[in-house]
Amino acid sequence: MATNPIPQFPSDFLWGVSTSAHQIEGAADEREPSVWDAFSAESGRIKDGSTAAVACDHFHRYREDVALLADLGVGAYRFSIAWPRVNSPGGLDFYDRLVDELAAAGIRPVPTLFHWDLPLSLQEAGGWLNRDTAERFAEYVATVVERLGDRVHKWITINEPAEHTLLGHALGTHAPGKQMLFDALPAAHHQLLGHGLAVRALRAAGITDIGIANSHGPTWPASEEQADMEAAGFYDLLLNRLFAEPLLLGQYPDGLGELMPGGSGAVEADLKIISEPVDWYGINYYAPTRVGAPQGTEIEFGGVTMPAELPFSVREIEGRPVTDFGWPVVPEGLTELLTTFADRYGDRLPPIVITENGCSYEGIDDQERITYLDGHIRALHKAMEAGVDVRGYFVWSLLDNFEWAEGYARRFGLVHVNFDDPADPATLGRTPKASYGWLRDVLRGQSRND
Ligand code: NOJ
Repeated sequence: MATNPIPQFPSDFLWGVSTSAHQIEGAADEREPSVWDAFSAESGRIKDGSTAAVACDHFHRYREDVALLADLGVGAYRFSIAWPRVNSPGGLDFYDRLVDELAAAGIRPVPTLFHWDLPLSLQEAGGWLNRDTAERFAEYVATVVERLGDRVHKWITINEPAEHTLLGHALGTHAPGKQMLFDALPAAHHQLLGHGLAVRALRAAGITDIGIANSHGPTWPASEEQADMEAAGFYDLLLNRLFAEPLLLGQYPDGLGELMPGGSGAVEADLKIISEPVDWYGINYYAPTRVGAPQGTEIEFGGVTMPAELPFSVREIEGRPVTDFGWPVVPEGLTELLTTFADRYGDRLPPIVITENGCSYEGIDDQERITYLDGHIRALHKAMEAGVDVRGYFVWSLLDNFEWAEGYARRFGLVHVNFDDPADPATLGRTPKASYGWLRDVLRGQSRND
């Protein structure tokens, strides 16, 4: 573990941790079902056969969790609002209580309005493949902001539309489990449209601090051979440019707009909505990806099986430690990503917030997590020294939680949760890990006014 103190960040830099509703709340019987409830109930979908019916039971234990946030000393807490809960009687009351509890602890709430748990009823009407879902999303956003907007000032529209498109609609390893490959592109377009309509709904309610959380990472070609370079460029197009460019530049890159639903006139009109200016741009960063030409075989990577017919293949990044998930630990990838974005998008890029960064490791004495976070916070500082305007950093995650298709087997928390018998409310005890104490010390060492 590095012993040099972490460099000083600006005093108004926002330090936080992130979670999402479906991954921690539980209390599934106190809301209408989501697409993830239905998916998890299908056999073989979740690796350990679990569901998020109870998860961390945060719905009932939020006071204890806010106390953990307060002890940690973060200035902000990113959580998500479950649309199926808002649709249910008393659902918004929960977020009301949570926001008040955070305010009492002096912690700024940063809710995400969609983090993958679509109401099942909307999925049955076509989900994100149906344009109407974008309109329904904006209505739901208006309802939420009407209730919480007096106390919540910083908002995130949607989380990782790239992963939700790729894993949920193209490969089918996440809910709603569709394996449509490139026919999944309308799900990306409609999420982006939903984002733009949500920005308008938030603006109409007087909100002036709005972002989105996109997953991005550098794409490293497997070699300098043309076929590898082209495959890596294509992967970069799908992961990075397909989402960043409509939002920041108001256009789809490299003719991808022609593959979007509605024909070019409709897509042009939608791009005006999609590119409604945001106040900051959220990036979730975990690792770079090494990509080469297709190898004609299925590839298993980071828990995902990639079909042989994809026009690229994901390769191992050699010579790096890996997390329990098998993801390589490459802190300088974060510096590279941020400087690349600043170069690519120049003054079209608003200030950045790192809305997620973290790693999965077992154990309470999690020295590897400390090494990971230490390296990434320094890499972030380096990008800022190089001139990239970054305003905040959120660790994924406060608690060990339901890691989607992996179930409870991948632990990303600064706080350990005892999942041994989730049906027994006496379990689910929280134990701060070594990384929690380490981050608390880092935060104490910063001169801050967040
Ligand atoms: C990104 C997602 O937003 C979050 O839900 C997930 O748990 C982490 N990555 C780790 O995979």
